[in-house]
Amino acid sequence: MRYGVFSDVHGNYEAFSAVLEFYRKNGVENYVCCGDIIGYGPQPLECVKAISGLKKLHIVMGNHDGALAGRIDIKWFNPNAMAAIEFARSRLDGQALDFIARLPEKVETADFTLVHGSPRKPLTEYMLSESQFADNASSWKVSPCFIGHSHMPLYFKEREGSLPETDFLKPMMKVSAENCRVMFNPGSVGQPRDGDPRASCAVYDSDKKVFELFRVFYNVENTQKLMGEMKLPAMLAERLSFGF
Ligand SMILES: [Fe+2]
Ligand SMILES: [Fe+2]
Repeated sequence: MRYGVFSDVHGNYEAFSAVLEFYRKNGVENYVCCGDIIGYGPQPLECVKAISGLKKLHIVMGNHDGALAGRIDIKWFNPNAMAAIEFARSRLDGQALDFIARLPEKVETADFTLVHGSPRKPLTEYMLSESQFADNASSWKVSPCFIGHSHMPLYFKEREGSLPETDFLKPMMKVSAENCRVMFNPGSVGQPRDGDPRASCAVYDSDKKVFELFRVFYNVENTQKLMGEMKLPAMLAERLSFGF
């Protein structure tokens, strides 16, 4: 089965529409969302509706979603992020708020494990080092494990008898999940932070056990214009131009 794996849409519907179109053109019909639907971007309701409308979807809660749902204290967020979460709260209807509030923190299927942050701290830990990968070992079973949260497309891999391996994922890069334990982060759809402003997303083929990263062009200026109209913090709009 081929899964469209994406994360950190963050209310950027312009970017998410481009990613959905990319998946549609490539015949992807199963989806895995690693959380943070809302926050930062100007169209949280449109994003929740589009994601909740996907027929074959596995999804977990992100920390921004958790703050909206009252699962995390909003005081842990910086003022810009806080403003965007409050903005999202003002835009969502009851159905969308309910969808967010019901999201699980961890999902395990026969094909993969899914969390936003890390298996041991699903809502809060940023997985950025091999030592964290090792420290999380006892908290997840089914490989691969899909993660989000850091907005960095990367992977951590461990194979018996060899040294742990980690690397950033570049566009069109394929990584095998065969005979190993591996975590994949597909990067962020709505607010990339690796210097590439294009939306980041991935496809995982569970038959071939291959994860492939893609970058998708979208109209960044359209999103920025909407953010200005919605009076979201200017810095949140500006950073989209640089993917940082
Ligand atoms: Fe995020
Ligand atoms: Fe997050």
